[in-house]
Amino acid sequence: MSGPNTSFDPKQVSALSAESVDAVVADALGAIAGAASLADLKEVRLAHAGDRSPLALANREIGALPPAAKAEAGKRMGIARGQIKDALDQRESDLQALRDEQVLNEETVDVTLPVDRSPMGGRHPLTTLMERICDVFIAMGYDVAEGPEIEADWVNFDALNVPPDHPARTMQDTFYVESPDSGVVLRTQTSPIQIRAMLERDVPIYVVAPGRVFRTDELDATHTPVFHQVEGLAVDEGLTMADLKGTLDHFAQEMFGAGIRTRLRPSYFPFTEPSAEIDLQCFVCRGESISNPDKSCRTCGSEGWIEWGGCGMVNPRVLTAVGIDSSRYRGFAFGMGIERTLMFRNGVTDMRDMVEGDVRFTRAFGLES
Ligand code: DAH
Repeated sequence: MSGPNTSFDPKQVSALSAESVDAVVADALGAIAGAASLADLKEVRLAHAGDRSPLALANREIGALPPAAKAEAGKRMGIARGQIKDALDQRESDLQALRDEQVLNEETVDVTLPVDRSPMGGRHPLTTLMERICDVFIAMGYDVAEGPEIEADWVNFDALNVPPDHPARTMQDTFYVESPDSGVVLRTQTSPIQIRAMLERDVPIYVVAPGRVFRTDELDATHTPVFHQVEGLAVDEGLTMADLKGTLDHFAQEMFGAGIRTRLRPSYFPFTEPSAEIDLQCFVCRGESISNPDKSCRTCGSEGWIEWGGCGMVNPRVLTAVGIDSSRYRGFAFGMGIERTLMFRNGVTDMRDMVEGDVRFTRAFGLES
C-alpha cells in the first residue's frame, strides 16, 4: 500500500491550473456569446458544460490532488462552472426573448382583414314557420302527425272522397310515380295525412300535419311545383263549426297578431261537408281599405280579406271510409299553404326566393322568423 503522494506537484496537473481553467472559461464564454440560436446554444451547452466538456474532464483530476490542493482547485472549478452556467442561462433567456419577438413579428394575424370563410347560412324560414305552427297546436293539445311524400292514390284521393274522374287527378295536375296506372303519386296535398291519422289512431283525434306537397305547376312568383301545406284535423264527439272557427281564430292570432279575425266563405271540397274558404282579415289595413278609398291597400287589393286556406266539417263518407262511426263522431279539418302564410306574414313577394337557396334570403330571417 502506498501512502499519500506527498511529492505530487499540483502545477503538474495542468488542466486544473488557474490559467487553463481561465482559458476554458474564456473559450466557453466566447462560444456562448457566439451562439446565434437556441439550437446552437444547445450544442454549446453540451460542449462546454456537458459530461465530456474540458471542465468536466478537468474536474475528474481533482481526486488525484493532494488534500491540501483539493480545496483550492475545487473552489476554482466551482467558480468556473458557475460562470459558464450563468452565461448559458443568460444567453438562453436572451435567445428565447429574441425567438418570441421573431415569432410575434413573423406570425402576426391581422384581425381586421376580411375573413375568407363561407357564411353559416340560416335555417329556412319555412322550417321555422312550420315549427311555430306545430307549437301553436301542441299548446292546444294536438299531436304532430306525418305521412309519406310518395302516397297511394287511394289515400291521396279516393279515401278523401275525390271521384275517379276529378280533374285534379289528371297528369296535368298530379305527378304520378311511373304511370297513372301505378296507383302511386307524389302527394298533392297534406289531406292524406288525415286518412292515415284516422286509420292509425283511436278517437278522439287532434292532429296537426305540416309537410311537403307536389303539383305540376311551373315555378313563378306565386307558384312552385314543390310547396308546403299544414293540415289540421280534429275528430271527437259533438264537434261543430264553432269549434273549427274558434281554432282558426286562435291560429290566425298566433300567426298574425292579436285581434286578427277570420271569415269563413262557403266553398266545396269533396272531403268536407259543409266546406269553406278561410279568409284572413288583412293584417295591413285591417279591413279599413274597403270603406275608405283614401286607404287603398296593396296587400289585399282593398278587399279587406285575404284567402288563406280551406276547411270544413269532415265529410261523414270520409269517416266511414276509415271505419269511424259517423253517427257518433264528427270532425273538422283545415289546410293552408305555408309559403302563402310566409308571404303574408313576412312580406315575401316572390316564391322563387324560397326555393333558390340563396343564403342572403334565409339569413335575413335569422334563426327565428
Ligand atoms: N287539401 C286542400 C287543398 O290542397 C286544402 C284543404 C281544404 C284541407 C279543406 C282541408 C280541408 O283539410 O278541410 O286545397
